[in-house]
Amino acid sequence: MNTAPPRIHVEIEPSILYFGTPVVLLSTENQDGSFNLAPISSAWALGQTVVMGLGPDGQTAHNLGSRPDLVINLPAPAQWPAVERLAALTGRSPVPSGKPEDCRFEPDKFAAADLTGEPSHLVRPPRVAGCPIQLEARAGRVQPDVFGDFLIVEAVVCKVHADSRIVVPGTDHIDPAAWSPLIYNFRHYFGLGPELGHSYRTRTPRRSHPPGPRGVSNGGC
Ligand SMILES: Cc1cc2nc3c(=O)[nH]c(=O)nc-3n(C[C@H](O)[C@H](O)[C@H](O)COP(=O)(O)O)c2cc1C
Repeated sequence: MNTAPPRIHVEIEPSILYFGTPVVLLSTENQDGSFNLAPISSAWALGQTVVMGLGPDGQTAHNLGSRPDLVINLPAPAQWPAVERLAALTGRSPVPSGKPEDCRFEPDKFAAADLTGEPSHLVRPPRVAGCPIQLEARAGRVQPDVFGDFLIVEAVVCKVHADSRIVVPGTDHIDPAAWSPLIYNFRHYFGLGPELGHSYRTRTPRRSHPPGPRGVSNGGC
């Protein structure tokens, strides 16, 4: 018999709906040939395209409007302090009026975050050396969202770099047990908890998978 108390939903009006998406660090090229770095969490992948939501006044949006090359760097959970060091900084001068009051201009965000750049292979902006996954990409479409408040960027990934420690040896698979994104969960940072199960569509070769939903193993699907 189920003795758990019934769940009650209440109607709320939260100011933000950041329900937990990976943090990425976008490196882009400034007009003078230097490079900007900015954290965003509105990012998701569809095939080889990464879709991102950007405030239109920031330096990143400004850069991508004229220079489409970028690197989408995925930090590990332990790198959250470096991400947070970038939170109140903009590469845009003067600081746009729409930015939070404590936001200040910083021309060298790599140094400010204590992060190091390393050359990319196909695009001009550098990769962030310590990030386990780095996606070289080009913005193919930059357009306003439905309210005109944000820009929706669709970037096509042209090269993937992965730390060998998170790759299943001898394959092109990221090992989901070795990799965790840094998750932005209602403005708080989290990593992933232990694996719960897997999709029937996984192709990742591993010594043992935890059971699927019906308690069966992968079965080669
Ligand atoms: C964890 C985190 C997630 C963020 N997510 C976004 C986002 O999805 N889109 C966005 O436009 N800004 C986001 N921001 C805010 C930008 O990083 C911030 O506006 C920054 O000043 C942009 O820098 P830029 O003006 O040099 O591009 C986020 C900040 C943090 C710390």
